[in-house]
Amino acid sequence: MIAPSILSADFANLAAEVRAIEGADWVHVDVMDNHFVPNLTLGMPVVESLLKATDIPLDCHLMITDPGRWAPPYAEAGAYNVTFHAEATDDPVAVARDIRAAGGRAGLAIKPNTPIEPYLQMLAHFDTLLVMSVEPGFGGQSFIAHVLEKARAVRRLVDAGELNLVVEIDGGINMDTIEQAAEAGVDCFVAGSAVYGTADPAATIEILRKRASSVVVPR
Ligand code: DX5
Ligand code: ZN
Repeated sequence: MIAPSILSADFANLAAEVRAIEGADWVHVDVMDNHFVPNLTLGMPVVESLLKATDIPLDCHLMITDPGRWAPPYAEAGAYNVTFHAEATDDPVAVARDIRAAGGRAGLAIKPNTPIEPYLQMLAHFDTLLVMSVEPGFGGQSFIAHVLEKARAVRRLVDAGELNLVVEIDGGINMDTIEQAAEAGVDCFVAGSAVYGTADPAATIEILRKRASSVVVPR
């Protein structure tokens, strides 16, 4: 799956920008609160408008403090997948439960230097694991390859039937990096600047998807 990030889109023309990514599997929506990360983007009112502007499922990536309070309303509003950061709460399972009760799929995001081991047990309560391959906060950064170890570890558990979730990667994904992520067993690729930085975003999505699916994943 390819999930273009509208962080690199023109925020004054979001309806047109989501029309430009026809064929995308999810629209990745980066919510930043200028507290958990040093940047401020958008929140519920914009997500509510996006829901009216597109039929593509919204993948909301909440880079915010206190997700227990703020995450469930995104699911209630109709976001398909609601992902929050493991580093932002003491009780990820409780937040996941509330997101699911509000009708959404629940995702857990981990920063590049956050180990996966402490979270493996609780992944049974999640639908998505978002492995960050840049420090959250900004688009256009370089891919951090060592995070692929975490994707590999979770992929092994999925293949063994011990977990059932989408492994998603976010940050620095482009024509040059998508294949190594696919080889590590990633299912869903977020791409911001690599999609919106091109003249034909829809065509770029197709090329990225072809590159990812051409990789034979060792299982
Ligand atoms: C970064 C965001 C990403 C960002 C990715 O904090 O979570 O979703 O849009 O942008 P690129 O693909 O340009 O690295
Ligand atoms: Zn993101």
